[in-house]
Amino acid sequence: MSKIAIFYGPIGGAVNRVANKIKDAIGEDKVEMVAVKNATVADIEKFDKIIFGVSTVGKDTWDSEYSSNDWGKFLSEIGKTNYAEKTIAVFGLGDHITYAHGFVDHIGVLGKELVKHGASLVGKVSTDGYEFEESEAVIDDEFMGLAIDEDFEPELTNERVASWIELIKPEFGF
Ligand SMILES: Cc1cc2nc3c(=O)[nH]c(=O)nc-3n(C[C@H](O)[C@H](O)[C@H](O)COP(=O)(O)O)c2cc1C
Repeated sequence: MSKIAIFYGPIGGAVNRVANKIKDAIGEDKVEMVAVKNATVADIEKFDKIIFGVSTVGKDTWDSEYSSNDWGKFLSEIGKTNYAEKTIAVFGLGDHITYAHGFVDHIGVLGKELVKHGASLVGKVSTDGYEFEESEAVIDDEFMGLAIDEDFEPELTNERVASWIELIKPEFGF
């Protein structure tokens, strides 16, 4: 079986922590972890099954002024290939208290970029059980991927990851 790649960034924060939980739940031997920091489209093209992990750290983070940010650089690589034949899912970290009007926005930014390039995203999650005002990640009452808040709801992370793993399992075939 081909490996499932988890492309994550930044290194060493909440995204990294949740990426590790997802890796453990799928099974370490079935997963390849790829930090987006120095990754390019060539790394994406090695895999047919990919989970992308991102945090939202301010609207401006991905603008050129902040291009030293891991995802700031990597986002431009996303659009250099096509995802129609790949299995793709996204998870994202956010803070639903401080950023209630832009909760996990970057799941939406990234998700829309992937869809623009042919992806049919799997692992969309109902907004039921989440509290926030607005999010770019929501379409028809569903997040485009798994939303996690390690800042204010860390006690829900394991349960949210476990449900999501069940949701994506048939699609990823692990
Ligand atoms: C400067 C800054 C801006 C942030 N902006 C947002 C935001 O717009 N929406 C959101 O949901 N979370 C926002 N957050 C919260 C982070 O997404 C959250 O703390 C996340 O767990 C960070 O993960 P990381 O350490 O892997 O980057 C922000 C955090 C910081 C420090």
